[in-house]
Amino acid sequence: MLEEKLIEVKNLKTYFFTDEGISKAVDGVDFEIYPGETLGLVGESGCGKSVTALSILQLLEKPAGKIVSGEILFEGKDLVKLKQNQIRKIRGKDISMIFQDPISSLDPVFTIGEQLTETIILHKNVSKKEAIEQSIEVLKKVGIPLPEQRMSEYPHQLSGGMRQRVMIAIALSCDSKLLIADEPTTALDVTIQAQILDLMNEIKQNSGMSILMITHDMGVIAEVTDRVGVMYAGKIVEYTGVKNIFANPMHPYSWGLLNSIPQPSLNRKRLMTIPGTVPSSYYYPKGCHYNLRCPVASEICFEKEPEMVELEKGHKVSCWNYRQLEELKKSKNNRKFYNHEALECNNEQF
Ligand SMILES: Nc1ncnc2c1ncn2[C@@H]1O[C@H](COP(=O)(O)OP(=O)(O)OP(=O)(O)O)[C@@H](O)[C@H]1O
Ligand SMILES: [Mg+2]
Repeated sequence: MLEEKLIEVKNLKTYFFTDEGISKAVDGVDFEIYPGETLGLVGESGCGKSVTALSILQLLEKPAGKIVSGEILFEGKDLVKLKQNQIRKIRGKDISMIFQDPISSLDPVFTIGEQLTETIILHKNVSKKEAIEQSIEVLKKVGIPLPEQRMSEYPHQLSGGMRQRVMIAIALSCDSKLLIADEPTTALDVTIQAQILDLMNEIKQNSGMSILMITHDMGVIAEVTDRVGVMYAGKIVEYTGVKNIFANPMHPYSWGLLNSIPQPSLNRKRLMTIPGTVPSSYYYPKGCHYNLRCPVASEICFEKEPEMVELEKGHKVSCWNYRQLEELKKSKNNRKFYNHEALECNNEQF
């Protein structure tokens, strides 16, 4: 791609220093997003997706959370080095965020209109009248019926889907260059989920905004992203175009995630699961973080962390044994590849 990167995250490490020890929530993450592109970050609960997003906007819990190394270059400027008052100017204006929990992200004591117009006035330096007009416009854009009426309603008067649309409207109201959407559809039922995803695609096409889409759901990845980073235990383990992650996953974890979603073409009787759980961010195992759950792990995986290698242009993977995944891919039943008893035993350590 010849275009300039909008954001480039390099070797990001975000740790929490707590009474229990050091939680290495994000432990060396690299990715970039180009203008107009949607990058997905996918992985199981606790693998560091939200902490990555919160690091970008310096919204980490203080004083425990710290970015201990790395750069976050936004239009070439390193956000890590900015002071709170400087990052505040970027938040909402250049980069906006939809949080994982839409219910608690809206203020219950202010009307929808007040919350929207306040954001617009703060970032766009327009009169109150103009801000109200723009608020109605943006509510229309996200498909809220009777927007004039909604302006005077409070968050509790709206359904979950409507509240999520309002969150998107607030995020869109300032024409940000980057939208970070952290699980924007997880709290919604499936029909509303589909509508919100359609809306995100529409926004992308019409506005040229870049999106960082965070989800644990491979279905969401398929619907809205261009490229994807698969995250596991604080790291990105595979990074490639969205078609490729479905057609040719090369990391055993990506393959495991894909096998745990329904794929009618494979005509499987039952879904496969990845046994075990993500290790605690306080105690990663030695070597590859995925070693205890991995069906192709060998000795080296318990000794040394694998480096990220580029298999072909734009397709990176960090795994010592990715070549051995081929045999597993041909199988219709992966249960025989996992030693469930050994895994349960290993996981008791964590
Ligand atoms: N304030 C904190 N103090 C200590 N550890 C933390 C803190 N916040 C997050 N972590 C740890 O960082 C890791 C990553 O958390 P994060 O919230 O980024 O996960 P996630 O991938 O967003 O998961 P989910 O899908 O459940 O939202 C977890 O192991 C979590 O326990
Ligand atoms: Mg999260």
